[in-house]
Amino acid sequence: MPENILIAIAWPYANAEIHVGNITGSHLPGDIVARYHRLKGNNVLMVSGTDSHGTPVTLAADKEGKPVEEVYKRYHDGFLELFQGYGITYDLFTTTHTENHFKVTQAIFLALKENGFLYTDKSMQWYSPSSRRFLPDRYVEGTCYICGYEGARSDQCDNCGNVLEPEKLINPRSKDGGALELRETEHFYLDLSKLEPNVKEFLRARQGYWRDTVIGESLRKIESEGLKPRPITRDLDWGVDIPVAGWTEAGKRIYVWFEAVIGYLSAAIEQSQLSGDKEAWRGWWVNPDAKQFYFIGKDNIFFHAAWWPAQLMGAGSAFLKIFAGDEKPLTLPYDVPANQFMNLEGKKISGSRNWAVWGRDALTRYDPDAIRYYLTVNMPESKDSDWDWAEFVARNNNELVATWGNLANRVLSFAYKHWDGYVPDVSPASLRDSDLSLLAVIENGFSTVGAELEAVRLRSALGEAMKLATAVNQYLDVQAPWSAVKTDKDSAAKTIYTALKAIDSLKIIFSPFLPFTSERLHGFFGYENPLFGGQYIEDATDALGTHKVLRYRVGQISNLSNWKPSELKPGQKLNQPAPLFKKLDESVIEEERGRLGK
Ligand code: MF3
Ligand code: ZN
Repeated sequence: MPENILIAIAWPYANAEIHVGNITGSHLPGDIVARYHRLKGNNVLMVSGTDSHGTPVTLAADKEGKPVEEVYKRYHDGFLELFQGYGITYDLFTTTHTENHFKVTQAIFLALKENGFLYTDKSMQWYSPSSRRFLPDRYVEGTCYICGYEGARSDQCDNCGNVLEPEKLINPRSKDGGALELRETEHFYLDLSKLEPNVKEFLRARQGYWRDTVIGESLRKIESEGLKPRPITRDLDWGVDIPVAGWTEAGKRIYVWFEAVIGYLSAAIEQSQLSGDKEAWRGWWVNPDAKQFYFIGKDNIFFHAAWWPAQLMGAGSAFLKIFAGDEKPLTLPYDVPANQFMNLEGKKISGSRNWAVWGRDALTRYDPDAIRYYLTVNMPESKDSDWDWAEFVARNNNELVATWGNLANRVLSFAYKHWDGYVPDVSPASLRDSDLSLLAVIENGFSTVGAELEAVRLRSALGEAMKLATAVNQYLDVQAPWSAVKTDKDSAAKTIYTALKAIDSLKIIFSPFLPFTSERLHGFFGYENPLFGGQYIEDATDALGTHKVLRYRVGQISNLSNWKPSELKPGQKLNQPAPLFKKLDESVIEEERGRLGK
């Protein structure tokens, strides 16, 4: 039975370009796992979008002196280009600024209200007398009252990861430079304390298989500190309207974190509308057997492991009643494999200091699979990692090129030359024990690598795949078909047939990580149909045609189980092979280091 797998990836704020740390943090691991499950024949829905609201985005627009609509669209368009370049296969990458998202958000808000989890209260918030407005969230920075970090934002500290109460910030400073005072204002609150028992139960049920870093930041933290009510509206005019009379008119909007996480649900609904199967989203959202994976960075753990599940449990079956008329609860997250951070050359990545490797820029000099490879072997799964240009070159040359690329190219070129462009026509029954044992090792790789992918241990999965490539290299060293071809062509034919079959299998095993080169390799083998065969729909837009979106349409491979060993036919016609990867010159290291911090 195929499983329904939701691949939910953190929505990037429309306030900065995407860098390698963001790619390895969420988009790439999500894509690898999505591609794997599609190969397995599972029903995958992979969604995300641009997080278009909130003070991160309005501040970026203020800084440029441009309208916020213009600024978020420009970043959004850049994201769409980047994902295509890296082969990040979103079924839908949309934005939070769509009518559909507003409607779904408001239904969740009303469901929580109906179930008694919302209340209103007055509190003191930072106000700027000179600009005569409240300055929520990132408009005010200061010293964190929990960890002492001086660059904390009034709602969130990036150093200790805590959600903050703005009025407690020490030494508050306004981002617009003016004076600050505390003034009273009224807001809606989500009563997380009432939902605390549900959240704990939710987390305890998942404790056995979640990453320890994620359980520590969620369950262990809640057990020691408890959950407090949090305001879910703000004094801002950019954002989703509050579905209660008078509130929007009073200049208030829904808090960006309350609505952005709802994007995972609204995007699934939007994708169903776009694909013409309007109810399809229920397969991932109204289905206790669906598995939802959330790919995020460590700074987002609280919002995905506690806040979002609390919203879902609190809305309960009232959401569907309001939104669609029937009454069933929504599906809860299955796994939140949050990553730690990637640094760059030993220092924290910083956009403002240009201490970054920007995603789109890197693609102008390197192939996407070379970057995907380095970002996977170096993925910050359990601790922070570091992008180091010398290591990038070394791993590209010594592993990707030397172990895998050369293996594929050497064997295909040899077969192409000595068997006139065909797979040697040997009878599978005539294979020797050494041939069969290599094929058994490779066959077994589908379950070992598959198990690692299912558990979202992607570094280990790729490491296992590389070991298999090494096993084929060792087999060839022993069999030495390069010399045997002159003395015993029959034996060389068996070796080359076996190696081709192993490489054809490895092409599948590597394909979630290295989709572009696996597709090319698939072509060299002479298959009629493409391996993935999917493509991005040209000029895709949201349902109302107001926004550009990214939509990857799954091709050939969907609903076929292709996560299985090669069935390469003896005598199959090959195509002219070519190297899959490029060796990089050492000069790249200094050249790239020279670009940093300028
Ligand atoms: N925009 C947030 C960030 O970059 C992530 C939002 S994830 C969402 O940290 F699900 F809430 F959208
Ligand atoms: Zn802090």
